[in-house]
Amino acid sequence: MKNILVIYYSQSGQLKEIADQISQPFQKDANIRVDYYQIQMENEFPFPWDKDSFFGAFPDSFQQIPHKIIPPSETILNTNYDLILFHYQVWYLTPSIPINSFLKSEYAKKILQNKPVVTISGSRNMWALAQDKMKVLLKANQAKLVGNIALVDRNINLISVVTVVDWMFSGLKRKAYGIFPLPGVSDKEIKESNKFGTIIYNHFLDNNYSNLQTDLVTNGAVEFRHFLISMDKKANKMFKIWSKIILSNPNKKKILTKLFNYYLFVAIWVLSPIVHLIETILYPILYFKIRKQKKYYQGI
Ligand SMILES: Cc1cc2nc3c(=O)[nH]c(=O)nc-3n(C[C@H](O)[C@H](O)[C@H](O)COP(=O)(O)O)c2cc1C
Repeated sequence: MKNILVIYYSQSGQLKEIADQISQPFQKDANIRVDYYQIQMENEFPFPWDKDSFFGAFPDSFQQIPHKIIPPSETILNTNYDLILFHYQVWYLTPSIPINSFLKSEYAKKILQNKPVVTISGSRNMWALAQDKMKVLLKANQAKLVGNIALVDRNINLISVVTVVDWMFSGLKRKAYGIFPLPGVSDKEIKESNKFGTIIYNHFLDNNYSNLQTDLVTNGAVEFRHFLISMDKKANKMFKIWSKIILSNPNKKKILTKLFNYYLFVAIWVLSPIVHLIETILYPILYFKIRKQKKYYQGI
């Protein structure tokens, strides 16, 4: 009997749907037990979000400050898992507070140490530098990253800003204002994500993960948009400054968070289109750099 652990956190349920699809081939095998571990916070974040909570979560998210989690069950803590499917979402270019809190808890090493882990993110579209942070957290827990899947909202960047914000603040995966496309990872892509499960399952049976990432990428598991990596890098630099200022002035948190909100609006609606335009013009000059970046972010 082999044991698989599916770790996830999800406010809307999107990542749970993805987790169900990806674990399907394992669930169908009578010789495999599949356990689920849903990370739970002592103080849950609201869903739908309100403005104060949404922007208030920024400094702790970005600076990766852990919050208290409810301990995993004894069964999960005491089972020796053969593979871990680790689903996470990105908050402020960083693994979300619940994910970060688990990975920095005393339980993470007990569950993850020396275990093969496949990471699966379900984000708006800026996941790349968060995955770099995820790698650091997994390494600190001595886990072995063997594969990565990055599922995103495939719409144009600014369209997904409108639709994902509407989703987060209404709690409904609906067509914003009746005219925009649906937010998040598309239903089709969620339904078809069991194909990634089959790929992982086959490597699991062979007990050989050396070509797993290549097989996943060949089947569309990692979307790469060079402009988004560039924005991700620039925004990380600015977020570092903003989060430090907010955290070191707790008595001015409210006003500073409001200013950060305005900054974010300008960065998204004014600066990002300019950066996009410049990057498009410079594409031929940056060609080899972009190719290298693609190889890196589609790897593990
Ligand atoms: C506070 C907050 C910040 C977010 N920041 C990002 C981000 O920086 N990059 C990104 O691609 N998605 C971002 N998202 C979207 C999430 O990654 C995710 O797609 C969405 O919250 C749905 O996840 P769920 O499974 O928890 O419902 C953010 C969402 C929230 C609530």
